[in-house]
Amino acid sequence: MSVLLTTIGLGKSYGGVQAVRGVDLSVTTGSIHSVIGPNGAGKTSLFNLISGAIRPTAGRIIFDNRDITALPAHRRAAIGLGRTFQNLALFRSETVLENLLAGCHAGMKTDPLSVLFALPRAGRAEAKARDEAEALIAWLDLARVRDSAVGSLAYGIQKRVELGRALAMRPRLLLLDEMVSGMNTEETAAIARLVLRINQSLGITVLMIEHDMGIVMDISDRITVLNFGEPIAEGGPGEIAANPRVIAAYLGAAA
Ligand SMILES: Nc1ncnc2c1ncn2[C@@H]1O[C@H](COP(=O)(O)OP(=O)(O)OP(=O)(O)O)[C@@H](O)[C@H]1O
Ligand SMILES: [Mg+2]
Repeated sequence: MSVLLTTIGLGKSYGGVQAVRGVDLSVTTGSIHSVIGPNGAGKTSLFNLISGAIRPTAGRIIFDNRDITALPAHRRAAIGLGRTFQNLALFRSETVLENLLAGCHAGMKTDPLSVLFALPRAGRAEAKARDEAEALIAWLDLARVRDSAVGSLAYGIQKRVELGRALAMRPRLLLLDEMVSGMNTEETAAIARLVLRINQSLGITVLMIEHDMGIVMDISDRITVLNFGEPIAEGGPGEIAANPRVIAAYLGAAA
């Protein structure tokens, strides 16, 4: 099995706080890999390091056999690292279609000058972006809300739009940060099915942070557990659920 993403001794300190330390993570191509851990365990910081939003204070990140540790976030996105945010990061007053179009444009390598002067190449790119956005709307079952302002939609639907925008960037690795937090059981099940389809039908490798143990245990191939910034366990769902260190970490967090 090939490995799409590796982190080697990855660390991040904020002054005295070691948000992430000594993380050796290996994500297999084609897998759904979950990162779990109590609040403040360093999960979002780890994602921010992988997507390039923040710089590590230790270690390296390898994506598709390439060292991307020093690569800026937009370059990482261009080579196939896509993400959603724990707090929605959509244009709230724009429609679903407009939000997806923004993603489709960003996912295309159009010559910026040809867009500026509306040259034929840009025209074709514009049409292609529209086709892609419409295809995503159908695929994500968003046709009913296509022309609604994103800010007016239910939270679960906004999350699907955000997923669509990440997909529009044509990621090879999709980083999902707490997709189902604040969702009811039905919405959570729908997202779980959607993540499975993204993985199986589109062939996209998924790395997801999730607090909802139901979805984690149902759809993950592999799970890494963080506690106080450090990995304390890794394995399949069965192994993780039975791991005494994991149980202790969660009980400690709940106490
Ligand atoms: N910009 C920052 N400056 C200082 N400390 C930070 C910063 N970002 C995160 N931290 C600290 O790093 C630690 C890890 O935070 P992080 O947000 O990565 O955890 P998390 O596992 O995503 O938590 P949650 O489950 O609540 O989302 C926490 O102690 C947090 O307070
Ligand atoms: Mg977080």
